[in-house]
Amino acid sequence: MRLARSGGRGTPRRHRATPARRAAGAAFAALLGAAVLVPAAPAAADAPLRDHADQMGFEIGAALAANHLQNDSQYADLAATEFNAATPENAMKWESTEPSRNQFDFGSADAFMDFAQANNQKVRGHTLVWHNQLPSWVENGNFSESELRSVMENHIDRVAGRYAGEIAYWDVANEIFLGDGSWRDSVFYRTLGPDFVADALRMTAEADPNAELWLNDYSIDGVNAKSDAYYNLIRDLIAQGVPIDGIGLQAHLINGQVPGSLQQNIQRFADLGIKVAITELDVRIEMPASQSELEQQARDYRSVMDACQAVDGCVAVTVWGVSDQYSWVPDTFEGQGAPLLFNDSYQPKPAYDAVHEALGGTGDGDGDGDGDGDDDDPPPTSGPCAVDYSAANEWSTGFTGQITVTNNGDTALDGWSLEFDFPSGQQITNGWNAEWSQSGSTVTATNTGWNGAVPAGGSVTVGFNASHDGGNAEPEAFTLNGQSCSVS
Ligand code: XIL
Repeated sequence: MRLARSGGRGTPRRHRATPARRAAGAAFAALLGAAVLVPAAPAAADAPLRDHADQMGFEIGAALAANHLQNDSQYADLAATEFNAATPENAMKWESTEPSRNQFDFGSADAFMDFAQANNQKVRGHTLVWHNQLPSWVENGNFSESELRSVMENHIDRVAGRYAGEIAYWDVANEIFLGDGSWRDSVFYRTLGPDFVADALRMTAEADPNAELWLNDYSIDGVNAKSDAYYNLIRDLIAQGVPIDGIGLQAHLINGQVPGSLQQNIQRFADLGIKVAITELDVRIEMPASQSELEQQARDYRSVMDACQAVDGCVAVTVWGVSDQYSWVPDTFEGQGAPLLFNDSYQPKPAYDAVHEALGGTGDGDGDGDGDGDDDDPPPTSGPCAVDYSAANEWSTGFTGQITVTNNGDTALDGWSLEFDFPSGQQITNGWNAEWSQSGSTVTATNTGWNGAVPAGGSVTVGFNASHDGGNAEPEAFTLNGQSCSVS
């Protein structure tokens, strides 16, 4: 018999009125005393993702960071409006919840839970046993086998116990295998042997009998040696009567590289009788991202959605963040970025439209920045960037062009790429203040080493000489890092 837990959440705290969803971000920020200035969510001619997902009985989730929920009402507003499921990005990890032995801190985790519950979001707890973001008192504690087992049990008991009944799925153990399918040499594996997984699953079942118990890892999206290791382990766990309910495929993907065997892999886990979810989806792009790369990314998101939705046991797709602005990708993969559904200025990207469409919506997020989903529309009159184009000096076979681009977003650009089409056969001959290239009628100007940083509200001016054979119509549309600019 286990003693009653101390420090549990006691009586349920959350029976206050649920704010209407669109206002939830503001309500939450207000609760925490943050400045409340909630711009309208981006205009969408169609319902947000979660409404479509609800209709299908599907979950579309996002990893949410407690600090941004508290400090950035635009972030909180989108998180509430678009997603019917949520995963704490860092708040429930060991280093956050038990930074010193038996000293628990649930500040961020509680804040996350409050938000998710106020917005009626299904919660994936993340994560109980993991080699990363593990405090050094565990990693370097030189515990004996029995000591480490009781350290692990206490941790699971307190963390999963605190939220018992409130968490739909727990990522009980995270990233336990290496790429070749061998066991990762974590302190848990080293000290407890492979049984630490079964132990952790059983301990979580005891701490929260209602939560589903999952394993989770990256690079197990397709059929490969590492996903084979999970397949074999889960088959064995089931045979031994160990509780196991699902496998999370993180899907931290590279643009253009969705594994061809994704659906087959999902299917084989479902055939074991467990559930599957895409738990940490992002699709990273070499920066700066061009329009065509953003369109490739949209196709990748669509393939992942389709693969999951094609298999009965695949219940959810969770993206690893709300906007590109706070993604973990640029901090982790040098030169890579723009992996999510909303850009740095919270505008929906082509990938948003793709996910929207996969959920049975019209794909009417935008992708062209105007919110109505029609990619053929003229550029918006205001947008994340403004372009002033002029043919400064014209002669019979050529001209000098000058373009000033203003960053209308509210964050600084760190690298940019401007794209436009010449309508009447013009051809760049040389240019300055940017790296110029032209393919057919499409011109790309990318920042040079010294002018990649453009502060919010700042401008950059570039120029070129071009030839033409008579006609010299001005380009009509410009994109900056894939976002349509207004043209003056
Ligand atoms: C990442 C977070 O996004 C970052 O904020 C943090 O600094 C490091 O961890 N696999 C996982 C996630 O299971 O928990 C990781 O999240 C990304 C890789």
